[in-house]
Amino acid sequence: MIDFELNEEHLMVQRMIRDFAAKEVAPYIREWDRAQHFERSVLDKMGELGILGLCVPEKYGGAGMDYISLGLACEELEYVDSFLRVILSVHLGLNSLTLLAWGTEEQRQKYLVPQAKGEKIAAFGLTEPNAGSDAVAIQATAVRDGDEYVLNGEKTWISLADVADNFLVFAWTDREKQRRRDHSGISAFIVERAFPGVETRSLHGKLGIRAGNTGIISLSDVRVPASNRVGEEGEGFKIAMFSLDQGRYTVAAGATGLIKACLDASVRYAQERKTFGRPIAEHQLVKEMIAQMVSDYEASRLLWLRAGWMKNKGLRNTRETALAKWFATVASERAASDALQIHGAYGYSDEYPVERFYRNCKGAVIYEGSREIQKLMQADYALGFRQDKPVRCPLPAWPFED
Ligand code: CAA
Repeated sequence: MIDFELNEEHLMVQRMIRDFAAKEVAPYIREWDRAQHFERSVLDKMGELGILGLCVPEKYGGAGMDYISLGLACEELEYVDSFLRVILSVHLGLNSLTLLAWGTEEQRQKYLVPQAKGEKIAAFGLTEPNAGSDAVAIQATAVRDGDEYVLNGEKTWISLADVADNFLVFAWTDREKQRRRDHSGISAFIVERAFPGVETRSLHGKLGIRAGNTGIISLSDVRVPASNRVGEEGEGFKIAMFSLDQGRYTVAAGATGLIKACLDASVRYAQERKTFGRPIAEHQLVKEMIAQMVSDYEASRLLWLRAGWMKNKGLRNTRETALAKWFATVASERAASDALQIHGAYGYSDEYPVERFYRNCKGAVIYEGSREIQKLMQADYALGFRQDKPVRCPLPAWPFED
């Protein structure tokens, strides 16, 4: 049976997050964006409302909602500003859900529970100055020393770098495999900000998502207990790719919310603004742009919903999630560009939000798997060069077991 209806819980999450973003963020976002200011109190409020642990099982301190709720939350957050959705992508999508699937019971109790409750903030450290799309090119190392690993390296473009308490970091544990670019020499670690040798600093001057915190993490002889290794030694690359299945999902749903924001702003403006003696909504070339936004919004939504439905069922969804991420982010770029065009010169200033949407949309076409990586993946699936195997530690299906 195919059911396109959202249930009561979905509608409740949607309403709650819409109200939160409209009340706590929308009135201030232009100011924060202009000042490149990250407003820490937003994180605290998201924690209080249970958003930071939305689809973490209740037994681990979360709200126990399904993965569709996560997508709906991302739509609503990015409708107001991308920085809000990025918080959820990183803290919950890339980090907490990875601990849920791959963490030991001890790691879940120690790290996942406070993260789900919003008492601790989490981030994800894969990207390095010379390793983005080519994740195997990372240079961070982790050398075993008794009951500890000693980590060295630098991670960049890390969302929440300057505010997170815990980082999920990827580093080579096998230097010989690093020389051969054999991904099975990479391992994953939970690194606390409090560990000596961890330093972070913020990056400024970004094109968009200026209200978000993005930065660099430096690791200098950081001693990490062996019990903080996530998964087995050598499983780090797979864990990173697994994390991206959830991260890309949140990006896809968020981009869908951004398209809706562009559509709503364009519809409003097109009905108010008059040229040649009538509202511009009556000009066919404006209608064409609005029609494109409608179809992009509907298609993006169906793509992420299918990926979310598969997550709920516990099915592997790497292909479907990557497709949703690719389509929605590229479509959001189109929508933001057209929304600005419809607003004409007014869209070119920050008097209207479409200018911010136009700058914000670009990041998602680059991060968490660039447009080009997503295209290559889809072609490889179609050509039979890429097939998904069962994952050793899959995301738990929903409803969660007690
Ligand atoms: N879940 C679990 N395991 C997975 C997996 C997944 N989603 N995807 C792959 N694997 C496993 C494979 O089964 C394979 O296992 P075996 O070796 O046992 O067969 C192993 O991982 C290697 O997989 P691939 O052969 O698919 O690896 P590849 O080298 O062909 O991958 C690639 C190529 C698709 C381009 C991949 O490198 C990729 O996705 N690159 C993009 C990385 C990326 O998104 N970077 C962005 C950084 S994070 C970010 O942007 C966040 C931020 O800062 C805001």
